[in-house]
Amino acid sequence: MTDQGKKAGLTYRARAKINLYLHVTGKRDDGYHLLDSLMAFADVGDQITALPAKGLSMTIDGPYGEGLPTGPENLVMKAALGLQKLCQVSDGAKIHLTKNLPPASGIGGGSADAAATLRALMALWAITPEETALYELALSLGADVPICLKGRASFVAGIGEDITLAPPLPEGWLVLINPNVEVSTPAVFKARTGAFTPANQFNEQAPDAVGLACLLADRHNDLMAPAIKVAPVVQDCLDALRAEQGCKLARMSGSGATCFGLFAAKTEAEQAAARIAEARPGWWVSPAALLGDARD
Ligand code: C5P
Repeated sequence: MTDQGKKAGLTYRARAKINLYLHVTGKRDDGYHLLDSLMAFADVGDQITALPAKGLSMTIDGPYGEGLPTGPENLVMKAALGLQKLCQVSDGAKIHLTKNLPPASGIGGGSADAAATLRALMALWAITPEETALYELALSLGADVPICLKGRASFVAGIGEDITLAPPLPEGWLVLINPNVEVSTPAVFKARTGAFTPANQFNEQAPDAVGLACLLADRHNDLMAPAIKVAPVVQDCLDALRAEQGCKLARMSGSGATCFGLFAAKTEAEQAAARIAEARPGWWVSPAALLGDARD
């Protein structure tokens, strides 16, 4: 972002969210699942720009922008309309989304876009909604929108509304890979069977990426096995990451299909990403810094 854009509050990054672990702890009567998840961010994402305008409209470009709706069914427009209503704003905005992240992929692209839209429009319209109402609006847009709005590594419980800041994360590097297969979140939750897993938050501050991998190794992503049932290629993604030198942990994020490898060194992550991208030209592969703070 340019300094000017930052000052004007017009351009915001919508960084990928990563579920470092995800336990399904129960199920609500309405069918939503209760979770315990350590959620952090990767320094790769979409971008939202908002300009003053009379009405509300949006345009989209970027590698994954084609075919996405620009009407009120888009989560970005839903966020804008919801904020307008919440704060009784009569101004509009011309919103532009650059879609770099693969959609429906477990790294919260749509949720991050919605959260970045809320941040951009709060700045553009110079409004400060009451916090509880703002987070209720975020949750109504999607279970991952509140944590994307918070933008800080946190333990997330409930269906996404119960956010507790996590201890600071060490420096670490990720390799994100997605086989360019969209996986339906409801289908993955439906394919999950067996007992629920207890919550397992921790207070320790990992000294480095190896320490973080050790803490995460005692925890899981409970949606990984069901996602592999729905989309067996997820297993190939995990195998590709595990075969790379320096990969301390390989795991799926969210309900998939994106998987991440955790590395201690930037060069190792970059080399692993380059090798996987060469071997799998049809996959989306991106090295990225692990972020505990994704706020602009
Ligand atoms: O809220 P979001 O759009 O992320 O959720 C999509 C779907 O995933 C929900 O309609 C629900 O079927 C499932 N889901 C769930 N439990 C959650 C989050 C999502 O069962 N905590």
